[in-house]
Amino acid sequence: MKILRQQPLKDFNTFGINAIADYFVKLETEDDYRQLACSTLLKEYPFFILGGGSNVILPDRYEGLVVHPANVGVRLLSDDGDTLLVEAQAGTVWADFVDYCIDHEWHGLENLARIPGCVGAAPVQNVGAYGREAKDVVAQVHYYDLADASERWIEGADCQFAYRHSIFKGALRGRCLIDRVRFRLQRRFTPCLTYKGLSNALQQRQIEAPTARQLADIVAAIRADKLPDPEQIGSAGSFFKNPVVSPQTYRSLKEQYPELVAFENADQTYKLAAGWLIEQCGWKGRALGPVAVYDRQALVLINRGGCSAADVRHLADAIIADVKARFGVSLDCEAIFVQ
Ligand code: EPU
Repeated sequence: MKILRQQPLKDFNTFGINAIADYFVKLETEDDYRQLACSTLLKEYPFFILGGGSNVILPDRYEGLVVHPANVGVRLLSDDGDTLLVEAQAGTVWADFVDYCIDHEWHGLENLARIPGCVGAAPVQNVGAYGREAKDVVAQVHYYDLADASERWIEGADCQFAYRHSIFKGALRGRCLIDRVRFRLQRRFTPCLTYKGLSNALQQRQIEAPTARQLADIVAAIRADKLPDPEQIGSAGSFFKNPVVSPQTYRSLKEQYPELVAFENADQTYKLAAGWLIEQCGWKGRALGPVAVYDRQALVLINRGGCSAADVRHLADAIIADVKARFGVSLDCEAIFVQ
């Protein structure tokens, strides 16, 4: 385990912020995880865990230790003919993991194709897209509890998964070093087509029963159409969460704005499409200094070049204020501002 100093982070965050970390450590082996968990470093310095850096807004200078999971690998643990248990190391690139599983006909991850980031981050924020969430497939998570340097397993059912949330962002926040995740996958492919855009795309292509690869390819095509390619344009994917409101709030907004886009949750609350709210406020495609709202998806903020966390905050605050003033709805950031 080697601690580096003054590490540039531009290539470690998809927003492309030119940040520098005072200290930086890569965790490549089990032994690296154990050593770090048992050392006093994480008590002496402020620290944060930087996986694929696809959901963070970094400060110009991080005066602490950045921990970067870099352990990679996937293995099949069990297969009873129906259900498979597959383990992936935290530093494995999520999109590669999904592709690997599809190639091996291990099913259940197709809708989550091409999400940027690493495996270790998937359970933390319960990544989700096109009708599926990590919670549908996460069986167990292995982590080091930094409170007492112990190694622990937690069952998926105990992770308190919710929309872009889990116990790792709640009660266990700041004290877990996740090193590997186990997924429960299926031999048989049953396409999940609850997301309208997906079923529409299949209809357009006249595909009735897609293969797993076809479904993942369609997801990739929809993503490429709406979301910027992190290689070309800096962004953090969806910058805001879709706000959840009560049925009363939903009904009164719907009366005022019949075009309002919303989805009913199982508990009768409603998730409003934040992209629609932001677009109605005239922000789609607009810039404020070096940061802009993406012109194909208003939920995404992009780096026009050389932006800092303060620039991003400035635009985010302006959008939040406008949505609040117009609709009375509070937007929360999905992207995390690292302090
Ligand atoms: N919409 C607009 N204007 C916009 C964007 C969206 O009117 O500029 C409306 C459209 O009517 C659209 C609806 O909002 O039908 C929903 O948009 P979309 O299907 O693009 O999904 P989203 O709610 O904006 C969420 C996730 C994405 C995920 C997609 C697909 C969150 C915060 N974001 O976006 O996740 O890929 O659904 O499932 O829940 C991410 O988290 O980084 C991410 C990309």
